[in-house]
Amino acid sequence: ARHPSIPLPVDLFGAGRRNSAGLDLADRVVLRETVAAVESPSRLREGLGEGRASSATSTVAHLPPPTPPARGRGDAVARAHAAFPAWSATPVTQRAACLDRLADLLEQHRDDLMAICVQEAFKTIPDALGEVREAVDFCRYYAQQARDGLQPVELPGPTGERNVLRFDGRGVWATIAPWNFPLAIFLGQTVAALVAGNSVVAKPAPQTPRIAARAVELAHEAGVPKDALILLPGGPEVGAALTADPRVMGVAFTGSTATARKIARSLLEDDTRPIVPLIAETGGINAMIVDSTALPEQVVADVVTSAFRSAGQRCSALRLLLLQEEIAGTTIEMLKGAMETLRLGDPADPATDVGPVIDQAAYDKLMAYRARAGVVKTLDAPADGLFVPPTLVQLDRIEDLTQEWFGPILHVATWPAGKLAETIAAVNAKGYGLTMGLHSRIARAADETEALAQVGNLYVNRSMIGAVVGSQPFGGEGLSGTGPKAGGPHYLHRFVVERAVSVDT
Ligand code: SER
Repeated sequence: ARHPSIPLPVDLFGAGRRNSAGLDLADRVVLRETVAAVESPSRLREGLGEGRASSATSTVAHLPPPTPPARGRGDAVARAHAAFPAWSATPVTQRAACLDRLADLLEQHRDDLMAICVQEAFKTIPDALGEVREAVDFCRYYAQQARDGLQPVELPGPTGERNVLRFDGRGVWATIAPWNFPLAIFLGQTVAALVAGNSVVAKPAPQTPRIAARAVELAHEAGVPKDALILLPGGPEVGAALTADPRVMGVAFTGSTATARKIARSLLEDDTRPIVPLIAETGGINAMIVDSTALPEQVVADVVTSAFRSAGQRCSALRLLLLQEEIAGTTIEMLKGAMETLRLGDPADPATDVGPVIDQAAYDKLMAYRARAGVVKTLDAPADGLFVPPTLVQLDRIEDLTQEWFGPILHVATWPAGKLAETIAAVNAKGYGLTMGLHSRIARAADETEALAQVGNLYVNRSMIGAVVGSQPFGGEGLSGTGPKAGGPHYLHRFVVERAVSVDT
């Protein structure tokens, strides 16, 4: 029995106690209940191997169709097109107010949104919380950016005329979202297009239509006119029809490099169509370079976070760990030990670190690769379900990794002392340019990496995932995407047309 005079640390699960992800521990317990209670046929059962669908393409067949447009997809563009003039004429401050109200609604409905993310995308609870937070951040940030940067500006009139530069919506935008951030990226792209004065036809990934449907409902509740934002669920054929529609005046896409190329081609195919912008956010072969001055414990913690959290299903995730030869042996041993502590399992369980991957097709592809790769460490996975165990693969040369493996598979190679520039050049040569990490306590190494790395996001002495809206504008170059960077000060400007008006006074 406890001595009554000793105060107990009772508030262990009380409000205000947060873990490193900022998650209130009390919420975790409540959320577990919420996930179980969300009314839907559970895709989660499939991820956990219970009554798994026989084919990967059927994963959403049993989900209720999320409010499809009333009369087919041609009609979706027609309706958005008809809604454009009124929405674009709505003052930017009012459009921004809709985004702020949407942010409030997302916060109010946080638990339900998280539960859908867990059920539908197999997000762990901290990752589901991150989804909602990032979606809220995008809404508030773009609302402020619009108020600050999209109102007409007066320019000098040296000969006495009045000059104004206006920022107007372009028309209908197609936003095409990935399953790995089915709320944050889906909404981020969409609200950016909306606040800039465009109407939007938004196509979620086929794996994650329900969270998108809920987000669109909330956007309408926040004041976005029904036809200014239309949800268009479907697979690649729906996306292809959408981007081929000549009334679509811009596309914001996050997904694979191959699909981005197809979209770019389709936008140019019709010679009579206006030339319209494509914002593409694609993949990466992201490397972290570690030299012999790095702090080993920090390296290992940051590698585990960057490579294995979210089951490696982030475009920012670490794929290629490059260790200076002198420290490779000990670092790999430490890393193997740290991997042992990762817990695979039901993402609705607050203790889970790594949940299932998104679908059978992803599982099959990753497991087939793992079976033939040079595995130096892996873990046991639960017997059934779409679990790809965190895996470490040793490479002889940096050049041996030629494609992105979108899951918890980390490659490791070494580099010789004094060859930092050559090592960075070998990474650059892959042609991708999304994230890169450096762990070093030598300021010159950081400066050299900053000067040479051809990446959109460079992270020094920290993990490589979880870019913060407004602080770490996110997006790559080369095969990794077009820019401008999401959550950055120049993003909205790609969604508008600039018009200069000069009036002789
Ligand atoms: N924005 C995410 C991150 O930084 C990746 O898409 O991890």
